[in-house]
Amino acid sequence: MSARRVRIEQFDQDILVEDGDTILSSALAAGIDYPFLCQQGQCGSCKSYLISGSVDLGSFYNPMVLTEHERSRGLILACQAQPLEDCVVSVAELDGEVSHVVREITCSVVAVAHPASDITVIQLRNDSGQPFIFSAGQYAHLTFPGLPAREYSMANRPDVDLLEFHIRHLPGGRVSSYAATELAAGTAVTLRGPFGTAYLREEHLGPILLGAAGSGLAPIQSIAETALANGLKQRLHLYFGVRDRPNLYQQERLAELARRYSNLSITVALSEPSGAHDLRVGHLSSVIAADFDDLTDYHVYLAGPPAFCEAAQGVVLERGVTPASCFMDPFVTNK
Ligand code: FES
Repeated sequence: MSARRVRIEQFDQDILVEDGDTILSSALAAGIDYPFLCQQGQCGSCKSYLISGSVDLGSFYNPMVLTEHERSRGLILACQAQPLEDCVVSVAELDGEVSHVVREITCSVVAVAHPASDITVIQLRNDSGQPFIFSAGQYAHLTFPGLPAREYSMANRPDVDLLEFHIRHLPGGRVSSYAATELAAGTAVTLRGPFGTAYLREEHLGPILLGAAGSGLAPIQSIAETALANGLKQRLHLYFGVRDRPNLYQQERLAELARRYSNLSITVALSEPSGAHDLRVGHLSSVIAADFDDLTDYHVYLAGPPAFCEAAQGVVLERGVTPASCFMDPFVTNK
């Protein structure tokens, strides 16, 4: 008999898995409180990321529980997986919450764009050699050279290599002014994360309402693109609000998404329009209030300034959304 050594990141512990045993059975035998239910590849409770090494995924699991897309992202079912060599794994969820290991990684800026009057969009390459695993809707701390750390949400899908962030320019803001005027490709950035609980719950089968104000579009874009790429078929209503036309961005990207996925609808609203346009007018929470009488069975994701999140939360709770089904990411601004 030979055994492989498997490191389980959250428990900071190595276990030995004998030939023919699964990671889950060996972890439980070692006294580790690894999440599981069915032990038969049918429930997904033991879903984990394979960080390094290789495993036999097993052949008796439900392909709806571990999809081909998830397999391509390095997910495994610990109750089925048998290591083929020494491995490192990371539990995907603990107690119903995603449980990604917080890492500090070095990145470099590969692209900087200024698509709206007050927005800088940057793309980062992970240079650390370590995986950066997160769920759509989470955020990280970014530290640019010589500046204090700031929180920004990942705007890309978790399975996309380049990390995307949207930085809103705050008058007098040290970091956002630097991003708007000086930041260039090649700059080294330290990233720490992921954090946040307003991430996409893919197990929800009912309709989804997404509300983004300003640069709150970053996590909402990540959630929408991830949900659609992962095959969620329910209705997705994406609402995006900014002050005026010069503040609008990502319009072509959103339009392309709506062309590709018939279950996605997009509504854009301007709160203080100054010229001719064919968009909705009003604060985003009021526009949502006008469009929905009943949001029972919805999951709602809201991101943007705290005032928007609070107003929109009030609207959706009045229309039947339960507090547990309303996920908010209020952007607290630091200058
Ligand atoms: S415990 Fe149910 S799929 Fe592994």
